Amino acid sequence: MTAQRPLIVSSAPAGLAGRVRVPGDKSISHRALMFAALAEGRTHITGLLEGEDVLRTAEAMRALGAKVTRKDTQWVVEGCGVAGLKEPADVLDMGNSGTAARLLSGVLATHPFMSIMTGDASLRSRPMGRVSVPLAETGARFVTRAGQKLPMAVEGTGKGKPLHYRLPVASAQVKSAILLAGLNCEGETVVEEPAPTRDHTENMLRHFGTEVKVEELPEAGRRITLKGPARLVAQDVLVPGDPSSAAFPVVAALLVPGSSIVIEAVGQNPLRTGLFKTLKEMGASLEIRDERIEGGEVIGDLHVRAGRLKGVDVPAIRVPSMIDEYPILAVACAFAEGTSRLRGLAELRVKESDRLASTVALLEANGAKVQVEGDDVIIEGQARLPGGGHVQTHMDHRLAMSATVLGLAAEKPVHIDDTAFIETSFPGFVALMNHLGAGLTA
Ligand code: S3P
Repeated sequence: MTAQRPLIVSSAPAGLAGRVRVPGDKSISHRALMFAALAEGRTHITGLLEGEDVLRTAEAMRALGAKVTRKDTQWVVEGCGVAGLKEPADVLDMGNSGTAARLLSGVLATHPFMSIMTGDASLRSRPMGRVSVPLAETGARFVTRAGQKLPMAVEGTGKGKPLHYRLPVASAQVKSAILLAGLNCEGETVVEEPAPTRDHTENMLRHFGTEVKVEELPEAGRRITLKGPARLVAQDVLVPGDPSSAAFPVVAALLVPGSSIVIEAVGQNPLRTGLFKTLKEMGASLEIRDERIEGGEVIGDLHVRAGRLKGVDVPAIRVPSMIDEYPILAVACAFAEGTSRLRGLAELRVKESDRLASTVALLEANGAKVQVEGDDVIIEGQARLPGGGHVQTHMDHRLAMSATVLGLAAEKPVHIDDTAFIETSFPGFVALMNHLGAGLTA
């Protein structure tokens, strides 16, 4: 990661305006590279997110034997086939990316060689036991630092014992790790999730020619079954715009008076759009137009106009469909009329930062009224937020972008200690916001 990049954000000089596209979906981009590396043949990927996190995955897949190149605007991957990856010559550094580290753990568990994974200070503080413990049941051996943290050594088994696993928390990363390990297990791998989480792994497995069975469970969850050993066949992939990245210009346009913007070609997978649903409940002028299918994913154009928002009560069941959007939702709630209650946010504590604590600190530093009750966050909105805070982003890209949006709508300038990590998921964020008229001077 590059040197620290502090930023002082003053209120936007005028309403935001214009049409933009946000970078490719981070979750789909990681998976496209990993699946292509495990497929037989050549995959072309269009619209890949070229953020730090995804570039780490590209580098890891190269180190494991896949040929990964960039040709004009496309990425081209020559795959090795399931179980065809090679022992890496050096440590795999996954940077800031929990998704890369967790999904790759599943891949490595059922490859018969030794590898070591590490990451930056943020990733090295995050729990890996949620994947290493269940994956060890395949026959692989995992050795972690104390507290099940990276660096972690993986001694993969060849063909593994298939897992039947019920996720203790609704996590798409853990679900995906288990399914990826299952590709080289003998028999049925079954994962049950307590609530539906993003299904990009299931969709992409099917896209690459593997059968995946999905059953609804009586109490809201799902059971996913995959039969191994499986074969993946190279397929071209078109990556839609990331709804989690679109979230930042969307909320900025809602909060900066006089704004009217369009964000084109944003992914509309219903397991990812909890924020848009919530903003509509808050009275946002947010319309999804021209919904269409491109590359097997539903996409649409977001039309957003500024307007007064009202407080909202967000149920815990909605958490997986907007897990990464709570910091920016909290900013929207801080400007809304009335009280908001965001329920069941325990998982936020183990993201790129302790996002529950860092989001609360972001709001408090800027004069918002916020309270934590157990795993719920309660925010008392106010039409005019003082701002003027000094925000610590703790190596968390989404905190940095949320703080930027808050600064555009608050009264006094907001000081952000470091915006360098925005590159992990949203390269060009400052330029895009300035194109819309934000007037950021980084
Ligand atoms: C992701 C799943 C989510 C999310 C992360 C990306 C994925 O994590 O926070 O940014 O691509 O599977 P969990 O599934 O662990 O909640």
